[in-house]
Amino acid sequence: MIIYAASTQRTIGLVLAIIVAAGFALYVLVNIRAGRKEIGAEVELAPNRKKYFDDEVLETRRLDIALTAGVAVLIIIALCLPLYWLGEPGRQEGFDNFTYDQFASRGGEEYEELCAQCHGAAGVGGQAAYTVLDEQGRYIAGVSWTAPALNTILYRFTETEVTHILNYGRPQSPMPAWGGPGGGPLTSQQLETIVEYLIEIQLTPEQMASEVQEGLRESVLKEVRDLNLEATDSELVELYNDLFDGLGDAYLHDLEIRQNPEADVEEIEEAKEDLQHLLDDYLVDLAEKNAAKYGEYLFNNPAGAGAYACARCHTAGSSWNADNELAMNPNLQGLINAEVPGGGGFGPSLIGVTSQFSSAEDQSAFVSVGCEPNLQYGLNGVCEPSGQMPGFGPNATELEGSMLSLEQIAAIVEYERGLE
Ligand code: HEC
Ligand code: HEC
Repeated sequence: MIIYAASTQRTIGLVLAIIVAAGFALYVLVNIRAGRKEIGAEVELAPNRKKYFDDEVLETRRLDIALTAGVAVLIIIALCLPLYWLGEPGRQEGFDNFTYDQFASRGGEEYEELCAQCHGAAGVGGQAAYTVLDEQGRYIAGVSWTAPALNTILYRFTETEVTHILNYGRPQSPMPAWGGPGGGPLTSQQLETIVEYLIEIQLTPEQMASEVQEGLRESVLKEVRDLNLEATDSELVELYNDLFDGLGDAYLHDLEIRQNPEADVEEIEEAKEDLQHLLDDYLVDLAEKNAAKYGEYLFNNPAGAGAYACARCHTAGSSWNADNELAMNPNLQGLINAEVPGGGGFGPSLIGVTSQFSSAEDQSAFVSVGCEPNLQYGLNGVCEPSGQMPGFGPNATELEGSMLSLEQIAAIVEYERGLE
């Protein structure tokens, strides 16, 4: 890896070394030849035997030349020192950037080699194959486990917290320990370069907001789609009817056009845009009229492979495809419970969270900043020494901007406080 990164400098160094070596060899050769010729000629060649300038020349022309040269050198020094001084901060900054870039690009290579297979190229999120074993370590099933996007990681965790996660990994998940303290293969400097790379690929707040929105649209659409297939649950039927006026129609129209082989690109784009506007309007309405339902969508948001969601840590099984192969496997009865929304996973159960936070404001404040090591929160909550609960609001980390708006956090809290 190091050889790789330094290869340009190495090549330059090598070329310089060859030039110097060749020059030195040439110098030695010439010297030897010249030396041979001189054997026995010392008397003629001795410098003090040669005639030099007479006093006249020495005290006028020669002296003037020497003095002028001295003044010229002084002027050059006087001019160049301040110039150098002026350029120095820029040079230092350039060097800083250079080493930083080198660090980040080394981290980028490491990321692509070690992390991208699960977290996706440039940290957009992906899937990890994982084997679920029972308590005796026997094979139960192979599952595909969602690995969250890392292009927003430094908005929810500080650099120290990310380094901790890298050191120890996530127990009972496909995320292995990478650092020495957790028994992993990488040095602390390698981890540092990876974190530098992660800093470089973070999205802007605007990009995050549009990812969140895209995830919400997807969730609403999925619900509409499922309802179209089978509308039995009375609550869902009601929702379907609420939606159908605008949304259901637009969805069906969109579907029809997409499935029509004769539809042209423009038509498809138009239908897609119409649907998107309707979904956005619907979501604005929902946030106002039914914040808890809006909060539920946010809690389970599929955007960024779950990076913006709470469910992946607070609902066991939500990160893997348990409801397919796993849930049907009779061996799993009692081992992997059917998903209980907010029933706890890597993070604690949120059912009855009102006994931890007496007010929704306190709870929102906690969700906004997340855990600091050993921070006390709520009535009797204490964060782990590593601080694992991410912060989703402004001021959660050093970065400006947040993964969720304060209104969105308030909506999630409303949903959580209704969990039972
Ligand atoms: C074998 C697949 C796999 C590999 C390889 C892997 N990860 Fe992960 N990683 C995961 C999964 C899955 C999770 C989510 C675990 C969970 O659901 O709690 C995760 C979680 C994380 C988290 C915490 C994210 C969060 O918001 O909770 C970070 C940070 C992370 N990985 C960084 C890395 C880095 C950096 C590398 C490379 C050095 C890496 N991972 C390699 C699968 C992987
Ligand atoms: C990376 C995993 C993870 C994600 C994602 C996550 N949490 Fe947590 N959460 C935790 C952990 C772990 C704790 C326990 C505190 C600790 O030790 O860090 C916790 C604690 C909490 C608590 C306090 C519960 C109690 O009774 O003490 C609340 C409330 C909470 N989380 C809400 C949320 C909300 C809302 C979201 C989504 C916006 C969310 N969490 C996303 C891991 C997570």
